[in-house]
Amino acid sequence: MASSAPSTAPSSSSSTLSPAPPSPEVAELRERIRQLEAALAQASSSLHPLPPTPSTPTAPPHSTLRLGDVAPNFDALTQLGPFNLYAHMADHWLVLFSHPADFTPVCTTELARAAALQSELTARKVKIVALSVDSVEHHVQWIRDIEAINGVQLTYPIIADVDRRVASLYGMLQHDLVGQHPLPSTLPLTVRSVHILGSDRKVKAMIVYPASTGRSFDEILRVIDSLQLSEKYQIATPCEWKYGGSCMVLPSVKDSELPALFPKGVTIVRPWLKVTPFPE
Ligand code: BEZ
Repeated sequence: MASSAPSTAPSSSSSTLSPAPPSPEVAELRERIRQLEAALAQASSSLHPLPPTPSTPTAPPHSTLRLGDVAPNFDALTQLGPFNLYAHMADHWLVLFSHPADFTPVCTTELARAAALQSELTARKVKIVALSVDSVEHHVQWIRDIEAINGVQLTYPIIADVDRRVASLYGMLQHDLVGQHPLPSTLPLTVRSVHILGSDRKVKAMIVYPASTGRSFDEILRVIDSLQLSEKYQIATPCEWKYGGSCMVLPSVKDSELPALFPKGVTIVRPWLKVTPFPE
């Protein structure tokens, strides 16, 4: 005859036991864990997605911005307050130039030079905007140093692109330089890009330098002058051209149009090579 457990034996299932109330220490720990989890969830939801690092198996995002494209609008924070590209431009041209980080020596020389050129830029109806990857608070401290060291007043906005959002949009990142000098970071380095935008908001020129090479602002002014002249007259500017120098007649201009378009005269070196004095 098969034996069976006595029906009166106490069950080992905990469901029949009422749990002992947690000690005050355990209850306090549970509450602390709950608060930490809530704080973590809130912090994660406010983080911007980061660009992939080289260890990410997908290709890093690359800006597809090209000459002639309408520059994408964006909102950002600057040391002068909230910034919207199109609102800031209004009917001006704009130079947007990027930097690897605040408190770096080469960038400091560039920002000071741009500040010193403010009246030259204004005369050309050009606004200038810088971008660096640090916070507004760092920008404010850095600007104090730039002004004190160089004896300039820096009045243009510097975008605080802490998550590289604008740098990604404008293709200002060097993707093989992640977490490198000048600051430890998991993000790609923002290099020295220059975007020159026309008053029609189109990209007129893009120049990119590596972080180790400071830019020539004489060259940036030269490009602006060339662009603005060729928008007004049917000319292009030759190699090593400087403001005031002779210009080349656009190959598309017909001979019959030369007298009306170039009252200062045209030297026909070859049928395809025509030179005219500076048009203004
Ligand atoms: C600089 O601005 O001095 C700098 C920044 C990044 C790399 C090298 C130099």
